[in-house]
Amino acid sequence: MASPFGLDNKVAIVTGSSRGIGRSIVEHCAALGAKVVVSSRKADACEAVAAGIRQKGGDATVMPCNISRRGEVEALIAGTVKQYGGLDILVCNAAVNPYYGPLGGISDEAFDKIMASNIKSNLWLCNLAIPHMAARGGGSVIIVSSIGGLRGTTVLGAYGISKAADFALARNLACEWGPKNVRVNCIAPGLVKTDFARALWEDGAVLARREAETPLRRIGVPDEIGPIGAFLAGPGASFITGQVIVADGGVTIA
Ligand SMILES: NC(=O)c1ccc[n+]([C@@H]2O[C@H](COP(=O)([O-])OP(=O)(O)OC[C@H]3O[C@@H](n4cnc5c(N)ncnc54)[C@H](OP(=O)(O)O)[C@@H]3O)[C@@H](O)[C@H]2O)c1
Repeated sequence: MASPFGLDNKVAIVTGSSRGIGRSIVEHCAALGAKVVVSSRKADACEAVAAGIRQKGGDATVMPCNISRRGEVEALIAGTVKQYGGLDILVCNAAVNPYYGPLGGISDEAFDKIMASNIKSNLWLCNLAIPHMAARGGGSVIIVSSIGGLRGTTVLGAYGISKAADFALARNLACEWGPKNVRVNCIAPGLVKTDFARALWEDGAVLARREAETPLRRIGVPDEIGPIGAFLAGPGASFITGQVIVADGGVTIA
């Protein structure tokens, strides 16, 4: 019986895959047989990840892309299709958060940047990529959202709004593209030990409070999110669409 988790001959793009959660997703997809495009703003950091994948026998190509620039997003999708002849898996992982504080104090500029990069860029990526998947008989889109989209906070409000919008984006695109066998899902991680969340886990008091509130009594690491992305990409998740998979050590149910 073929493995329900295999990604042989599938072509996958993962944005923001030079480190952290995106890196783990791209490495797990490659380990399961996908040909992967490693992408972030910095080519050299992506090249190091791609080299590691190739060393293990995988197929990886580097295509730098700043997701906030439409021309670069277009080049990423077109370049992938040119390189590999099509596209099956898109992981919208890169996101930004330039502001930490109450919504009452956020500038229009910071608000607009968060909405543009975390929502509109994902829409660009999806609108450009999904028709290629549909042309191959189907595909899978995974948007890396956050539990920040499920709950209120006093310091990450705009980020939370953008991540909640990603849930709605996934649900709507799942309805639009389901008839073409393209699935669209979100992952909502809790606190994960990456550069992005450094301010949270480096603060001893914040970390201790979070660990105490979390049923598993710890925060996560990127390799606890990567396999979820690889699972959602593949045949084992073929009847899952429009959903949010929460991976947070239980903090939102406690
Ligand atoms: N860590 C957490 O606790 C946590 C929790 C919930 C959700 N998330 C979500 O998980 C995703 C990944 O975050 P992470 O924690 O893995 O962060 P990370 O370790 O800081 O990695 C971020 C990645 O995105 C790239 N990137 C940043 N800005 C970009 C841009 N404008 N265009 C393209 N690539 C860009 C970075 O590379 P370059 O600098 O080379 O561009 C890097 O590869 C985000 O969507 C975040 O909201 C994280």
